[in-house]
Amino acid sequence: MSTNVAVYPGSFDPITNGHVDIILRGAQIFDRLIVLVAVNSEKKNLFSLDERVDLIREVFGGNPKVEVDTFEGLLVKYMCARDIRVVIRGLRAVSDFEYEFQMALMNRKIFPEADTLFLATRENYSYVSSRILKEVFGLGGCISDLAPAVVIEAMKQKFKPARRKSKEAR
Ligand code: PNS
Repeated sequence: MSTNVAVYPGSFDPITNGHVDIILRGAQIFDRLIVLVAVNSEKKNLFSLDERVDLIREVFGGNPKVEVDTFEGLLVKYMCARDIRVVIRGLRAVSDFEYEFQMALMNRKIFPEADTLFLATRENYSYVSSRILKEVFGLGGCISDLAPAVVIEAMKQKFKPARRKSKEAR
């Protein structure tokens, strides 16, 4: 059994400083932390799967405890196949709890050895989500201290036409 390995699954569209903080803290608890990017085909992502993976690799490239992988379908299938028992999830607010608790219980129902370890977000990132960063950035707002520099650069490229239009309208 891989007791000292955990997965940190998510969409990471794109990775934010809130995610970065959870990954760094998770990597202090476990010998290896696998950041697991979901293919989730039903979600309309801004970044492709490869782009999301590359951005995380750019941020954690020098960290030997952090790996990046992808998964499609059930998370616990990935875990079961590799004998991994621990899922890390961040909790930002009480409003996250209901959904996260439901997921944790369902994962354990399908794979009884699976346990979810919740890490409370750092308070300065409690309002940060990938969705809200994309919305604010797309409308011309500054989010430079809420996501890694490589992510900000990648978002600039993605939103170039939209941001240009919003500037012209001002
Ligand atoms: O970043 P997100 O969108 O909060 O991540 C959610 C994610 C991808 C971790 C979750 O939707 C997931 O685990 N999806 C894989 C499918 C699965 O295993 N579903 C059952 C969970 S109850």
